[in-house]
Amino acid sequence: MSVSPNLDKSPSATPDTPLSLEGRGAGGEGGSASNSPPLLPQGERGFFDWMSTIQTRVEAALDRHLPDASSIPHRLHEAMRYAALGGGKRVRPLLVFAAGELTGAAPEKLDLVAAAVELIHAYSLAHDDLPCMDDDVLRRGRPTCHVEYDEATALLVGDSLQTLAFELLANPALGDPARQVEMIALLARASGSRGMAGGQAIDLAAVGKPLTQPELELMHACKTGALIRAAVLLGALAGAPLTAEQNRSLDRFARRAGLLFQVVDDILDCTASTATLGKTAGKDEAAAKPTYVTLLGLAAARAYAAELRGETFAALSELGELGELGELGKPAARLGQLADFICHRQF
Ligand code: IPE
Ligand code: IPE
Ligand code: MG
Ligand code: MG
Ligand code: MG
Repeated sequence: MSVSPNLDKSPSATPDTPLSLEGRGAGGEGGSASNSPPLLPQGERGFFDWMSTIQTRVEAALDRHLPDASSIPHRLHEAMRYAALGGGKRVRPLLVFAAGELTGAAPEKLDLVAAAVELIHAYSLAHDDLPCMDDDVLRRGRPTCHVEYDEATALLVGDSLQTLAFELLANPALGDPARQVEMIALLARASGSRGMAGGQAIDLAAVGKPLTQPELELMHACKTGALIRAAVLLGALAGAPLTAEQNRSLDRFARRAGLLFQVVDDILDCTASTATLGKTAGKDEAAAKPTYVTLLGLAAARAYAAELRGETFAALSELGELGELGELGKPAARLGQLADFICHRQF
């Protein structure tokens, strides 16, 4: 089965709309981003069941915590719900839950953490699509927020989703004030000028300019990698503490997975169709953005994605024998499956 990412064109998708991604693991119209086969079986029924369960859970958590559109200001609240609900792969929440499994975190706590990270992501997309940034009209198979509403509303949607994210991390249900302060600081840093927003600034300043590979890596690590890394670390922080060594391995995994995510985004921008992506294909080239494809060429960008995926698995193997029951092997394998998904996804 291969459905388009236009999972639900209705802005009022219900919270229990399953976001089925099954069958989108490898192959496809443009081929997989990496040439190498998945290290873990992609078609494993359990993985897709798990993925769909978490996606449904996170959709419900977002629905619960977003202000109701019937409350004032109606239009802003409706637009916030439009930007955050009913679409997206929910990769960051999936990483939150997978990392939370490592540390035995309670699912109710992970709901809050996953929703917080996804709200920051949804905010970043609403702003990324604005005419003053990437000027995109299509997102998740629907008109972008400023097209559906207006630019000022999309700006305020971003502002409001961002602050709501921090409100969720301050929720007493997370239950450990000291840990919560640590989480808030981590998400703030990942989102701000030394993380996502900073990466966006580098991205805009780099239009039409060739970047060196280290410069491109820094840009990607900030604009996309920082939030993906935060998703992993925050998920783990919601449970029992890991040892310093385990934290280092998890962090290594998170950083490489974050970079891998954006390398694959660059590849898909020039290999997948608009219909499959749910956003306008070929935008990077049209906007003269430096990407891994423009820097290295498509084949080398794919090889680099495969290399990064290998590095994510190397980091995970330090946490436990992948797939082994007990210790951290089984939950670490879940993170490995997500690294495979990030690498082999088609949109
Ligand atoms: C797109 O992110 C923007 C980037 C950071 C590259 P995703 O590919 O995770 O978008 P959704 O959430 O699935 O729509
Ligand atoms: C977006 O990168 C990164 C953030 C939203 C922070 P892109 O501009 O490449 O993302 P898409 O391709 O529009 O989803
Ligand atoms: Mg952009
Ligand atoms: Mg963009
Ligand atoms: Mg892109």
